[in-house]
Amino acid sequence: MAKKFIIEGGRYLKGEIRIRGAKNAVTKQMVAALLAPGKSVLNNVPEIGDVEITKQILSSIGCVVTHRKEAGILEIDASNLSTHIVPQEYSGLNRIPILLAGVLLHRFGKAEIPMMGGCDIGPRPLDFHLEGFRTLGADISYENGAYHFKAKRLAGARITLPFPSVGATENLMMAAATAQGTTEIRNAAIEPEIVDLALFLQSMGAIITQETDRTWIIQGVGELHAAQHRVINDRIEAASFAVSAIATRGDVLIRGADQLHMLTFLNWLRKAGGEFETVEDGIRFYGVHSKLKPIAVETGVHPGLMTDWQQPLVILLTQADGMSVIHETVYENRFGYAETLNRMGARIQLYNECLGGRDCRFRNSGHKHSAIIQGPTPLKGASIEIPDLRAGFSYLVAAVLAKGRTEISGVNYIERGYDRVVEKFQALGVPISVVE
Ligand code: EPZ
Repeated sequence: MAKKFIIEGGRYLKGEIRIRGAKNAVTKQMVAALLAPGKSVLNNVPEIGDVEITKQILSSIGCVVTHRKEAGILEIDASNLSTHIVPQEYSGLNRIPILLAGVLLHRFGKAEIPMMGGCDIGPRPLDFHLEGFRTLGADISYENGAYHFKAKRLAGARITLPFPSVGATENLMMAAATAQGTTEIRNAAIEPEIVDLALFLQSMGAIITQETDRTWIIQGVGELHAAQHRVINDRIEAASFAVSAIATRGDVLIRGADQLHMLTFLNWLRKAGGEFETVEDGIRFYGVHSKLKPIAVETGVHPGLMTDWQQPLVILLTQADGMSVIHETVYENRFGYAETLNRMGARIQLYNECLGGRDCRFRNSGHKHSAIIQGPTPLKGASIEIPDLRAGFSYLVAAVLAKGRTEISGVNYIERGYDRVVEKFQALGVPISVVE
């Protein structure tokens, strides 16, 4: 039988948890470690499915990976890489294989990368990655379900991304770190997780400068060396639990929640009536007496409101008094989860139009990328199936809020990105059990 979570709802979250390293930073840094022979060490590594998948990918091409899970320490010895081919079996599991293009080119002068996967939240093309690599001088072809990259040594160039893509910025930054000459990536992503990647690369010997106006300048150096790095804390995990605390009228101290990287989220949370206080080493979120209010907001690239904060926020807004509007501008198909919430009692309507803000790239795409949420609505338990990672967490929060029992299947999605999620909910007083 597939694994399920069973939650007895009508609860509030109370207590204290600790956030661990960010999923969307650690997996990229695991890949970056391959740029240098020797043993790199990452600290503050979360216990999540995406780390496991990435470990398997790295092992399959000859890395020796040792993970001390309790301590959160991951050692990656990339001294003896055995192949430039990422096996087909890793196609479709997550977005990591394409990020190996630059590191394998550096180590072998060629790379073979199977087709991509990840959460089903839009087509998620790779054109920015491929175009960027071509600009750096790589020869790329597509055959038998895989991209084939070739380049003796990449040559620095000026690249302007059509949209500030997180993955394309990371990929090209890693590739440029050891290229011949200087690379300029314009209209680049500048998320804190990307800055964290730049810090790790700098520790490995790279020369990377962040300029104004979304520009990264990377002066290629011939070789990098193994290094040690502490992974930035997960601001999505922190925000997810913050919203859970407030929506359920609970009180949770989130150790490791970093105000600097949550500035935008905290502003919107406050506008929605959520209360918090910063303490040393964390933020306390409480909603016992909060009067939750509707908001109109759009998601965007950093420093905007992260698209990955959207789903938990929607749960909060189902409990606010009035009509809220959310305009999703990063992914065209990120409201697929709303139908299930409506089945649980929410009142969420989706629209093709760009509601409540400026027009975005999805204006005439026919995709339902705006939502109106009418609150407050009591929720009731149901039997539900998770469609993607962030939606999965929002279902968990909905289940905690809902009257009655909720059975959630597809929980491997949640475990891909949330560290010890069952233990953390249990520690906060939620009766959640796992059926295997
Ligand atoms: C990263 O995905 C994250 N994943 C996502 O987290 C996150 O939602 C996203 O960045 C935005 O912050 C990881 O870090 C593993 P993008 P990524 O390239 O890099 C379009 C989660 O739940 N695009 O910034 O794949 C794309 O379709 C997830 O943790 C192209 O058109 O995202 C999207 O509309 C899900 N062509 C937009 O850019 C390309 O070549 C942003 O995507 C690349 C992207």
